[in-house]
Amino acid sequence: MSDSRPIGVFDSGLGGLTVLRELEKVLPGESFVYFGDTGRVPYGNKSNETIINYARQDENFLISKDVKYIVAACGTVSAVALSTADALPVPFMGVVENSVRDAVNCTKNKKIGVIATSATINNGAHKRLIKTYLPEAEVVTVPCPLFVPLVEEGWVSADDEVVLGTIRRYLAPLIEAGVDTLILGCTHYPVLKSAIRRAIGEDVMLINMGYSTARAVAEELKHLDLLSDKTEPPTCEFYVSDVTTAFPKIAKLLLGEEIENDKVNLVDVSKYEGCTN
Ligand code: DGL
Repeated sequence: MSDSRPIGVFDSGLGGLTVLRELEKVLPGESFVYFGDTGRVPYGNKSNETIINYARQDENFLISKDVKYIVAACGTVSAVALSTADALPVPFMGVVENSVRDAVNCTKNKKIGVIATSATINNGAHKRLIKTYLPEAEVVTVPCPLFVPLVEEGWVSADDEVVLGTIRRYLAPLIEAGVDTLILGCTHYPVLKSAIRRAIGEDVMLINMGYSTARAVAEELKHLDLLSDKTEPPTCEFYVSDVTTAFPKIAKLLLGEEIENDKVNLVDVSKYEGCTN
C-alpha cells in the first residue's frame, strides 16, 4: 500500500518552515501542505486554553485539505496542545518527543539544556520526558522570548553584537551548569545556530527538533505503509492567516528558498472549528 496524499505541517507562523525544510530533505518524494497562523502569531506567550483552541483549528484546516499525516512543527503547540491530536483521524507527530530522545542519546555528562518560548518552558514537557528516559539527568530550562523577534527582524548573524549579547545573556545559566547537549526547542532557533554555537562553544551538541522529527516521521510513514509512490514531482502548498510585507524575507530565511506570492493562499482558520475536540 502507498498513499500519495500530502503531509500537513502547521505552526503558529512561519517558524515551522525550518521543520518543513528538514522534512523536504528527508522525504523528497512527498507532497506537503503548510499552514502558518501568521495572523495570530506568537503562540509562545499565550495561555494554554488559547493555544489548544488555535491548534485544534489549525489541525481541522489541514484535515479539510485531505492530508494523510499531520506534523505540529510548533514547539509551543507540541508542548502545550498535544492532547488535541487524540481526536484526529490521521497519525500525528509533534516536535518535542524525538528531540528529547536525540538529546538523551547524545548526552555524556547527563546535563541537558532546553531553550524555547515561555509557554513551552512553563509547560515543562521536555523536562518531564527527559526524566522519563533518563531519571538521573540534570535538566536546565531557559525561556528565550527575545529570540523569535530577533529572527523575524532578520537579526541572526553571530557577528552582530546585539544578537550575540542577547544569546549570551539567555544562555549564561546553561553554560554555568555545564550542559553538554542543548535542545533548540522552538522553530526559529536553528536560524540562530551559528550565534548560539559561538556563545555556548564547540563542545555542546545542539539538537535541531526539525531534523529529529523529520527522521521519525519518515520512519513512521514507512512503518505504516503511507509513503507516496507518485511518479510526478511532489508539490508544496502554503496557507497563512495573514500576509505581511515581511513575509518573503522571513520565509526565505527560515525555509532557505523563496516562496512565490502566487503560491501563498490566505485562509480564515477560525472557521475550522468542530471536527475534533
Ligand atoms: N513556533 C513557535 C514555537 O516553536 C515560536 C513562535 C511563537 O511563539 O508562536 O514555539
